[in-house]
Amino acid sequence: MKMIATLFVVFAVASSAFGQCPVPTPVSGADIGKIAGRWYEISGSTLDLTCVTMDFTPREDGNFNYTTLGSKSDGSKHSRHLLAIRTDNENSFNISDMSTETRYPITFYIADTDYDNYLAMYSCVFLPGYSQIQLGFILSRFNSMKDDKLAELTDLLIKLGLTDDKIQSISQEYCKYWPASQ
Ligand SMILES: *[C@@H]1O[C@H](CO)[C@@H](O)[C@H](O)[C@H]1NC(C)=O
Ligand SMILES: *[C@@H]1O[C@H](CO)[C@@H](O)[C@H](O)[C@H]1NC(C)=O
Repeated sequence: MKMIATLFVVFAVASSAFGQCPVPTPVSGADIGKIAGRWYEISGSTLDLTCVTMDFTPREDGNFNYTTLGSKSDGSKHSRHLLAIRTDNENSFNISDMSTETRYPITFYIADTDYDNYLAMYSCVFLPGYSQIQLGFILSRFNSMKDDKLAELTDLLIKLGLTDDKIQSISQEYCKYWPASQ
């Protein structure tokens, strides 16, 4: 037993040192369809923006339009439209950039969610023979989150290999929010 525990620790450290993405095991009852709707980014990698929202709008083909909106420092609107494609895992989706600046497949993994209150996820880019964690997001259905929940989800993302600088607090104060529709 002790032997197994030791091997596990060595493996975990080695894999994050080489930037391999931890892939969550499929959870029974997981349903990617339930991420539909609006989320507010409480903490994450959307640096230099405030009032960040993420909307997953279901499409007829079963995938989602994934829209990130936020305010730049001068108060103007930032928007980014992506396509979130279902995979065979209910805890992940792949991104296709409609303007195709991304040439490598990017997969988002849900680390934890109850769909109704909070969602922690991270993205991973797959380069030939190599994978790397890129970004992390802690989202809420409301524009705030209890401190203990935020601390728990931050710890979870750090355990998965994200660094502090990729999980920065995102201001959700004095916001003007925009609708997701284009
Ligand atoms: C999804 O985005 C596409 C491209 O911008 C748009 O034409 C379409 O109406 C959107 N679909 C939904 C369901 O919002
Ligand atoms: C999603 O991306 C992963 C990693 O590149 C790839 O293996 C998988 O086939 C993709 N799935 C879909 C449905 O595009």
